[in-house]
Amino acid sequence: MYIVTIANQKGGAGKTTLTMNLAAVLSEHSRVLVVDVDQQKSSAWWADRAGESLPFDVADDTDPANLARLRETPYDVVLVDTPGSLVGHDVLATVLTASDFVILPTEPAPLSFGPLVETITKIVLPSGVPYRVVINKVDTRVPAELDDAEALLDSANVARFASSIRDYKVNKMGSVHGKVVTQFTLSDSRSSPRALEDFRRVALELMSLWANTKSQIGA
Ligand SMILES: Nc1ncnc2c1ncn2[C@@H]1O[C@H](COP(=O)(O)OP(=O)(O)O)[C@@H](O)[C@H]1O
Ligand SMILES: [Mg+2]
Repeated sequence: MYIVTIANQKGGAGKTTLTMNLAAVLSEHSRVLVVDVDQQKSSAWWADRAGESLPFDVADDTDPANLARLRETPYDVVLVDTPGSLVGHDVLATVLTASDFVILPTEPAPLSFGPLVETITKIVLPSGVPYRVVINKVDTRVPAELDDAEALLDSANVARFASSIRDYKVNKMGSVHGKVVTQFTLSDSRSSPRALEDFRRVALELMSLWANTKSQIGA
């Protein structure tokens, strides 16, 4: 089992969107549980709107201190959605003690990098848990946006995914419609296949990272 925490103290970076859509693509091959430790309960709210239709399970009342117990459950992957803001620092630190990997979504804007780097240096690096940043909400109409964001992260020695996630309307529609990226079709939005492709790429990269670090993270 892999317990993966989705983190970034910055609100609106895309933690909940990434948690739910990564869960969707991973659940095509694995048994996936989403755990919402955010008091705002965004992923739980999303799941409520979905009713029984999600291809994975969502647990909303898990005390972060109890996460280690999840190892005894029959899931292959547990994705933990965490709160933004400094208030979430303690929660995040607790969650990390039970995690195998951390993914930090960030918007490409340089102004978002301050809180991102702070989350990494103050909480993620001290925890010793391997991490990768994923650049989210990439605007394909702004040609240099992704390149500039990648260059900035690289110059700060921030480890990142090679793949990124584009800004598509369908990614915004998910929580409202109670659907995840694998459930949208061309008739919902022309960008549905591209949105799906983005999350699939991140999932594939994640699995290849795990394959390479298996011995280190004891899986
Ligand atoms: N790749 C994306 N494309 C379009 N909208 C996005 C994308 N990722 C997130 N959003 C939107 O940005 C807002 C914040 O995302 P959310 O996942 O709630 O962030 P967080 O959980 O970090 O606060 C939401 O309205 C969400 O629909
Ligand atoms: Mg959220």
